[in-house]
Amino acid sequence: MEIFKSKSDLLHTLKKLKGPLGLVPTMGGIHEGHLSLIRKAFQENSSVIVSIFVNPMQFDDLVDLKNYPRNLNNDALLISEISDKIKIYAPNQGDVYGSKIKPNKYSFDKLDKVMEGVKRKNHFNGVANIIEFLFKTFNPKNAYFGEKDYQQLQIIRNLNKSLGMSTKIIQCPTVRNKNGLALSSRNSNLTRLEQKIAPEIYKCLLDVKKRAKVNSYEEILDLVSFRFLKMKECNLEYFIIANQKTLSEISSTDLISGNRAFIAVKLGDTKLIDNIELS
Ligand code: PAF
Repeated sequence: MEIFKSKSDLLHTLKKLKGPLGLVPTMGGIHEGHLSLIRKAFQENSSVIVSIFVNPMQFDDLVDLKNYPRNLNNDALLISEISDKIKIYAPNQGDVYGSKIKPNKYSFDKLDKVMEGVKRKNHFNGVANIIEFLFKTFNPKNAYFGEKDYQQLQIIRNLNKSLGMSTKIIQCPTVRNKNGLALSSRNSNLTRLEQKIAPEIYKCLLDVKKRAKVNSYEEILDLVSFRFLKMKECNLEYFIIANQKTLSEISSTDLISGNRAFIAVKLGDTKLIDNIELS
């Protein structure tokens, strides 16, 4: 299994390889959700890069950055079980950003003016910096992203278009544990009690999906708030139903067509996000 620290070494190796290149960008803490993206990339491309880089530019909270799980050896082991032909790119900051101090600034057609974009200042700008770097450096044919971070997925689509890149963005379904909790590297920070409570988030989304056929938006907002008020360990950061293309909050009485419900809950120190398609 080859782990590349330097983009030029990896580019040198890639030059010898033919056929489509797939990219799976990650920040490590590899779990079954990432592995499902990597398996798909491996099936659909002749070569695959998995990048592992905890991108400081996308963190607005230093504690979150410090606590982010890092275990390159374990990540590499899990990836090698799919294939040891997969290339891991695990650079240090210098290889990505050089000595550049100023991040590029982007506008995402208002996609960043809701939800995580409001809660985490500069987060998506930081994501866009690393994605632009990865796309421009490796020029992958296909890049794989999970639906759990749906807002990120839409923002990356928008970025890809505005950069004029020909990379195809492949949207992949959220992977859940047997209790319905969406897999996330941050789940490893949950205490035992929090792990028991966390599946309530998806249960709530399933309930919303049912109720969207019969209840009004106001009724659903009240029900969701009440549900989380009862759970003292949870702090509901936001719940909205939004158009899944523009991410703008719905204004019509049709809660279903073309819409998605989005939720963010803080459980102790850990923030969890999830979403569900309503149509
Ligand atoms: O979703 C993530 O893990 C990160 O935001 C990404 C896309 C790898 C960029 O750092």
